[in-house]
Formats: sequence, structure tokens, C-alpha cells
Amino acid sequence: MYTSKISGLGSYVPENIVTNDDLAKVMDTNDEWIQERTGIQQRRHIKKGDGNSTSVMGAKAAKIAIDRANLTTDDIDLIVFATLSPEMYFPGGGVQVQEMLNMSTIPALDVRNQCSGFVYGLSVADQFVKTGMYKNVLVIGSENHSGGLDMTTRGRSVSVIFGDGAGAAVVTRSDKEGSGILSTHLHSEGAHAKELSLEGPNTGHWVPEIIAENPQEDIPYYPYMNGQFVFKNAVVRFSEVINEGLQTNELTPGDINMLIPHQANLRISQFVQKKFGLSDDQVFNNIQKYGNTTAASIPIALTEAWEQGKIKEGDLVVLAAFGSGFTWGSAIIRW
Ligand code: UT7
Repeated sequence: MYTSKISGLGSYVPENIVTNDDLAKVMDTNDEWIQERTGIQQRRHIKKGDGNSTSVMGAKAAKIAIDRANLTTDDIDLIVFATLSPEMYFPGGGVQVQEMLNMSTIPALDVRNQCSGFVYGLSVADQFVKTGMYKNVLVIGSENHSGGLDMTTRGRSVSVIFGDGAGAAVVTRSDKEGSGILSTHLHSEGAHAKELSLEGPNTGHWVPEIIAENPQEDIPYYPYMNGQFVFKNAVVRFSEVINEGLQTNELTPGDINMLIPHQANLRISQFVQKKFGLSDDQVFNNIQKYGNTTAASIPIALTEAWEQGKIKEGDLVVLAAFGSGFTWGSAIIRW
């Protein structure tokens, strides 16, 4: 068996900044409510005509990650693309990135695990690299939420939270024992599938049928979230899956140098930080600037933490995610 490591990281967010005050102009909300409940101050939204889309942002982040890994697109053996906001119903974003980056006929695989999408994708990459099948796997998380949110007061409990952006990592074969991606841990619980979901369009409810039955029926096309139920499950599952990863590697919370939680809500991150007795410089948060970017949130945060020199060789880095599905997961990395 080989080992695997993250050899390059990249991120991209659209230029257009949307503040809480900007949102208060189009719906009944306010800066105080949003900051108090979520910690979010602003987020990025794609602007019509800026050339961005889920795949375009993913390709931009991917290009940076590949460059930083000192590789070219020809070195990549597999693309794993995670999103809940693909620009096409099918095919997935992976093949679009392949075309944009002018890559050869390598496989492209889309992962649909929402907020846990990047950790799931990283786990897939890790397995392919460790078995020796592939040498370099590109993992991308990218989201265009703004194109599909209900920006009226009806949708405020969801719309104020989410932002657009992309992050990417290259997972590369290594032969260094005891370093790189030590383990990944994945879970799901379909019993709660509807608690954070977007129903339409889907094959159980085809669009022509909906329109024929009720032309005004737009609800299935906006995300639904049972916020408090999701929050309660998130704090429990985050803790469980971090503990699972630490125990597998015979580590304790005291060994963590950097925890990068999926940026769902600053209050969730703070709860987890307190539970594990971590200091402010052991947890990285940037939800204040970007909101919740779902599959992109961990790779954007990981990239920024690394760019700011907060992750050094030998550090124990823990990634943890929870979201729609429900799905959750963690990755334990010796940098
Ligand atoms: O990334 C995937 C995982 N997602 C999560 O982990 C999200 C988990 N959930 C949450 O983060 C929180 O539940 C939210 C931030 C979504 C909501 O916070 P909350 O403290 O659970 O608020 P709530 O939904 O219980 O709403 C409280 C009040 C309601 O008014 P009433 O009924 O008390 O009069 C809402 O109508 O706040 C109202 N409200 C708002 N007010 C101003 C809901 N959204 C807003 C808003 N602005 N944007």
C-alpha cells in the first residue's frame, strides 16, 4: 500500500460581495440577526455576466491547486467533483472541468454529498491513491447557491446562510509512512433526507407534471431546511466523527494542530471547539466572509489556512463535515 498526501490547494470566490445589509434591502432580515445566529457578515454571489458558474469556479480553483502541486493537467489521473448545485442536471461538473482545463480522457466522477461532499471526495481520492490505481487525483468542491435561493422573506432562514465559491485539492501518491491522509471516516443517515433538501426537479416529480398540476408551485425548487433539527444533529455528529478519527489513529484532541470544520454556522464551530477544548488558533473559520459554501467550504478554508501559514509540515490537521443526507465525515491528516 502507498500513502497519500495533499500536494496542492486552491480556491476561488466571485468578486461580488453581498453584505447582510444588502440582503436586508430585499427581505425582512437584519445584520444583527444574521451575525448573532450564524456569525456571517458577508458572502460572495456570482453576478450575471461575470462568467462564473459552478464548473468555471471549480476549474479556476483546480488550476491553482494543480500549479501549486507543481504538476500539469496532464499529470491528473482522476477528477472527483463535489457539488449540490451543478449547472446541468446531467452530466456532472467533473466532465465540464475536464473540458475547460483541456485534460485528456481521464475519468471524472461526481459526488453528491452536499456539505460532506469534499470529505467524501477526498476519501475516494485517498482510496484510489493508496491502492496504487492512480497517482494524482483532483478533488473539487464548488457551489453556485445564489442562483437558486428564495431571496424573499419566505426563504430568509436559508438564503442568508449560503454563498458561492470553489476549492480544490490534489491528492498525490507518497511513500512517507505515517504522514499524509492517515484515515477518512464517512457516515450517512437517510432517515433525515428531507430535513435539508431540495426536491425538484426530480424523477419522482417531473417538471411538466408539476406545472400542469399547479403552475404557481415553485416550492420544490427552493431548498428546505429544518434549521434547529439540523443544528442539533450537526453538533452531535461533528463530535462523534472527529472522535472516531482520533481514536482510529490513537490520537487525542490535544494532538490537533488545526481543526477545519465545514463552515455551516459559526455557533456550531464554536460548540465543537469548546467540546474538544481547542484554542482559537487550533480552529479555522472563515464563514464570516463567505457564508456556508457547502462542498466548497472545507477546501476554501483549508486553502486559506495554508496560505496564511497556519498549517505547517508535521501538523495534525482534522477536517470534519456534516450536512444534507444527513451525511457526515472526517479526515485525519499529518501534514
Ligand atoms: O451546512 C449544512 C448544515 N446546516 C446547518 O448546520 C445549519 C443548522 N441550523 C442553523 O444554523 C440555524 O438553525 C439557523 C441559523 C438556520 C436558524 O437559526 P435559529 O436560531 O434556529 O432560528 P429559527 O429558525 O428558530 O428562527 C428564529 C426566528 C423565527 O421567528 P419567530 O418564529 O421566533 O418569530 C424566524 O422566523 O428568527 C426568524 N428568522 C429570521 N429573522 C431575521 C429566520 N430567519 C431569519 C432571518 N432574519 N434571516
